[in-house]
Amino acid sequence: MLWTVLLALLVLVLLQTQLSMCLRELRSHSSSSSSSTLYNGTQQRLPGAIIIGVRKGGTRALLEMLNLHPDVKVAKAEVHYFNVEEHYRRGLSWYRSQMPFTLPRQLTVEKTPGYFSAPEVPARVWDMNPAVRLLLIVRDPAERLVSDYTQVLHNRLTRHKPYQPLEELLQHKGHINPNYKALQRSLYHQHLSRWLETFPRNQIHVVDGDALIRDPFPELKKAERFLELPPKISPSNFYYNTTKGFYCMQTDGHDKCLDESKGRPHAPLSAQAFKKLCHYFRKPNKLFFEMVGRSFSWC
Ligand code: A3P
Repeated sequence: MLWTVLLALLVLVLLQTQLSMCLRELRSHSSSSSSSTLYNGTQQRLPGAIIIGVRKGGTRALLEMLNLHPDVKVAKAEVHYFNVEEHYRRGLSWYRSQMPFTLPRQLTVEKTPGYFSAPEVPARVWDMNPAVRLLLIVRDPAERLVSDYTQVLHNRLTRHKPYQPLEELLQHKGHINPNYKALQRSLYHQHLSRWLETFPRNQIHVVDGDALIRDPFPELKKAERFLELPPKISPSNFYYNTTKGFYCMQTDGHDKCLDESKGRPHAPLSAQAFKKLCHYFRKPNKLFFEMVGRSFSWC
């Protein structure tokens, strides 16, 4: 009898220790999220917000524009922590070491468009911080696909590698090829449904990438509100650069346009093939609109 009571007590103590360790771990990840490294009163912290995609949706523009805010600091390079096994195995301390140094009031933001379509990522992000805010910038899926192809084509040409014309990649027995990777990346509803299995809808803010190109300020205003940042970004932070054909940013007398890899001419695609593509995306787009509770004027 005495032995049973002692054993039960021992199990209880062990469980309690385990529980308090878990709670401590959770708190250090989700609230303070800070490193012990100090630098001029600043520290590297885990991101409070992540731009998860979509690839070629305007993720760089959104990141750089958010960076105009004095309470925001961004990781300049794409980190690919949650979607590259080699990085993920290095753990959160490695992830944190990729972040900028910030003051406690500043919000750290990183962007890795590869997160959106990688199935293992939502649960991993949740494990890091279930309260993290997610930004998803979308763009007309047909335009996005052509932009995606153009980027791959550009990389292959620079490395003197062979390439297939887009029209060929899109063809499969007289129909649209459902296995083409760039096409799959444009099926937003499929990827978003996985994120919504893990995160509540109100933790994901959808940015209209086409609207961001046309007039960035209103989209930035909405993002600022979602991130609960004081309103500091103003229309004077943006000016239209006629040479580039896009908006550029200005702050404290400095101006900045995105590099030439953003907004380059798209690879050619016949009007007929583009129309077919638009038709293909009609149903998936409808499902996406239902999921996000709004519609976009896509082709
Ligand atoms: P295109 O190169 O097809 O025009 P990402 O940063 O996710 O790779 O997205 C690239 C896209 O951002 C570009 O696609 C471009 O259209 C869009 N974009 C949005 N705002 C921009 C801006 N102010 N300057 C340059 N490109 C911008």
